[in-house]
Formats: sequence, C-alpha cells, structure tokens
Amino acid sequence: METVWIQSLPNYVEQTVTIHGWVHQKRSSGKILFLQLRDGTGFIQGVVAKDEISEEMFDVVNSLTQETSLYVTGVVRADERAPSGVELSIINVDVVHLTHDYPITPKAHGVDFLMDHRHLWIRAPRQRAILKIRAEIIKAIRAFLDSHDFTQVDPPILTPSSCEGTTNLFHTKYFDEDAYLTQSGQLYMESAAMALGRVYSFGPTFRAEKSKTRRHLIEFWMIEPEMAFVTHEESIQIQEALIQAIVSHVLSTCKLELHTLGRDLTKLQKVLEPFARITYDEAITFLQQTGQEITWGEDFGSPHETAIAEHFDRPVFVEKYPASIKAFYMKPDPTREEVVLCADLLAPEGYGEIIGGSQRIDDADLLQERFSQHDLSESDYAWYLDLRRYGSVPHSGFGLGLERTVAWICGLEHVRETITFPRLLYRLYP
Ligand code: 4AD
Ligand code: MG
Repeated sequence: METVWIQSLPNYVEQTVTIHGWVHQKRSSGKILFLQLRDGTGFIQGVVAKDEISEEMFDVVNSLTQETSLYVTGVVRADERAPSGVELSIINVDVVHLTHDYPITPKAHGVDFLMDHRHLWIRAPRQRAILKIRAEIIKAIRAFLDSHDFTQVDPPILTPSSCEGTTNLFHTKYFDEDAYLTQSGQLYMESAAMALGRVYSFGPTFRAEKSKTRRHLIEFWMIEPEMAFVTHEESIQIQEALIQAIVSHVLSTCKLELHTLGRDLTKLQKVLEPFARITYDEAITFLQQTGQEITWGEDFGSPHETAIAEHFDRPVFVEKYPASIKAFYMKPDPTREEVVLCADLLAPEGYGEIIGGSQRIDDADLLQERFSQHDLSESDYAWYLDLRRYGSVPHSGFGLGLERTVAWICGLEHVRETITFPRLLYRLYP
C-alpha cells in the first residue's frame, strides 16, 4: 500500500492508501465512528461504519484515544464538506502506541496550563497552522532577498559590546572576559555589506527586557538586510516590496492554515497596495489632536503606535524620529540635524513595529561624537569606526522582527504562539 501525506490525499481519490499519524479526536454516532487524523502535513476525517467492517476492527477503532499513534489504511473519498475536499473510508488500523490520559483535552484550558505543555500544545491544529505559516514567511523572505542580489551572512551570537543600547543586554562570562548575547547583528552586517554589497542575516537575538507585553519576547528572530550605496529612501522601497512579497506568498501557499486561524483575508489583501507614510512630526500632531498626551521628543508607547496604525488600513512607515530617542548609528537628516534618516514600519490592526531601519552614519568624526554622547567606549567600537576610515559609503539597513510579523499575518493576540518554545519574562520552561 502506498504511504501518502495527508496534504496529498486530494490527488488519490478512490485509491487505497496508508497514512502514518496520530488520532487528533474521535467521536461516534452509534454505528459510525469518526476519527480526526493528523500526520503533520494536515488533518483528515477517517470514517468507519459498523456494518462495513469486521467487528474486531470496529472495536480497535472504538478503543483509540486522543494522540494514539497509528498506521491507517483506507480509501480516499471526495467530500465537498471537508476543508481539504476529501475524507478517508477506513479499512484497517495498526496501533503504534496507545496513549492514555493526554493532558490537553478538547475542553478549554488556561494559557499557563497550555504554556506548561507547549511541547504537546504545538500539535493542535491552530498551533500547527501558525508554525507552518512562520516557515512559509521565512521561505518568502529568503526567496525575495536571494533573488534581489543579497548574500546571506551569519554574524556572531556572543558579542563584546552592545548595538541597541546597554539597558537590556544579556550578560554572560566569556572565560575571563564579559560577553553579551547579541541584540542585533547590524554592526557586523555593516562590515559584511562593505565586503559583499548587499547582505542579510537571519538569526536569534536577545533582549533582557522586563517587558511583559503581547509584543515582546526575550529571544526572538530577526532578519537584518544591510546594503552598501543604498539611501534611506531606497531602503524603504525595498522594505515595502519585501513585506508585499511575504504577504502574497502566504496568501497563495497557506490557504488552509489561514482558514484554520479564521484570518480575515481582505485585511491581508490590502497590504499588496502602496503603504502609507508619515513623519514623526506628523504622528505627534495627529496623536495630540486625538487627545493623547505626548510631546515632541518622546518615544511612542504601544498605545501610540496602535493609534497611528489604526488610522491606516495598510502598513505605515513613520519616518525621521528625533536623534535623541534613536540608536547612536543613525545618520542625521542633512536638512534638519535634530532628526535622523530612519523609519519604523507599523503593522496594521495594532500589531506595532515590525521593522526598524535607518541610513547609517558614514562619517568617522560624527560617529566618534556619537560614541561620547552615548557613553560608549571608543575602543570597543574601533573596528566599526574602521568601516568609516576605509572606503566609507552611504549605506542603509533594517531589522524585521519575525515573531511580530507572524503574529500580524496570522492575526494572533500574543507573540507567544509564534515560536515553538517562547522565551518570555518569567518563562524558560519547557
Ligand atoms: O527596532 P530594533 O531594536 O532594531 C534593531 O535592532 C536594528 N539594529 C535593526 C537593523 O537596522 N538592522 O528591532 C528590530 C525589530 C523591531 O521592529 C521588532 O519587530 C523586533 O525587531 N523586536 C522584537 N520582537 C519581539 N520581541 C522583542 N523584544 C523585540 N524587540 C525588537
Ligand atoms: Mg525599533
């Protein structure tokens, strides 16, 4: 018998096949038993009728429990009511491992209970759909960058100094020295861009942030493109095309998963149109007009970002923040030195900042000035200053937060469901 993935079953109508998987759920209506089967690639309903199968086999199926692993042989039938268009008429079942007392039952469980059982929770249809979409998002990002002349480069995870400020560094010992888990590979990627032109990194980053919000993880994955001879304006255009490519790929490859999540597709289709853009100044005026308490020079909090984003039905770039609230490496606007050539991309529907990017300072003297303004020891960054000493060029880059992007595209309440084992404030288990 041919072993087939559940996702391929629509190609096997009226054929007898075997699937290797697990019982997701079982229900019975007297003489008929219905099994929800899963194999990782999808879900399918298996059916056995008492008068069409031996009594022995009917009893075997009747004794199956949630999350029992098994081999199931049956005939694939077309069925319009099924989400995948097919179901399986079961002929034979071989149990691999009979499960007793699976902790996650079909009743509702609290979030803490589910998080404690995250190693099992990821089997649920909703969690599987999210992880699948996450993988497709990564594929789309790589495909876009690889086909636009970017080379992937891997920056280090253990670093001697900070990139995004010293307040949320994860400290560790490096033999006799102090080291930190990377907050961002950007500074190394700037070096790589001078060697390879257009580069990107994709890896885990760490922030020891005492933030317990639905947007913050302690360990999250970031994609960081860095581009030589690219201005702030050009970088923004690349960001827009990248986000559109991601959404369009997910819309075309993850229909079933988006359906499982109950995602409103019209909201995602809007993203294929040009994005909105406002300056930090305009955003402050807008917030003040809508009664929010904020003055020029303050950074936005989550409620501010949400208020700005809700004003638009597609992602919005907020450009040119005051230099005083942004990182040391951002290039000042030549026409207005107090703001920098940067943009944060805010996702629609209140998902907050998914990209932070900027043009970088390319002048050695100005960079040295910034080191002292930001209390950074110049000797720690001597190598970074070298990039401005030998063939310095205008260059820009950005960081796309993977988990926030997944949360937004999937329409999730919280980033904790966007990664297999989230590292959260007060949660390191499992
Ligand atoms: O804005 P951030 O801090 O920018 C940087 O790290 C730059 N060095 C990137 C660059 O230009 N190469 O972080 C970038 C993105 C944010 O927009 C957000 O999406 C995500 O990373 N992010 C987080 N995601 C989850 N949990 C956290 N604690 C995050 N902090 C940032
Ligand atoms: Mg940021």
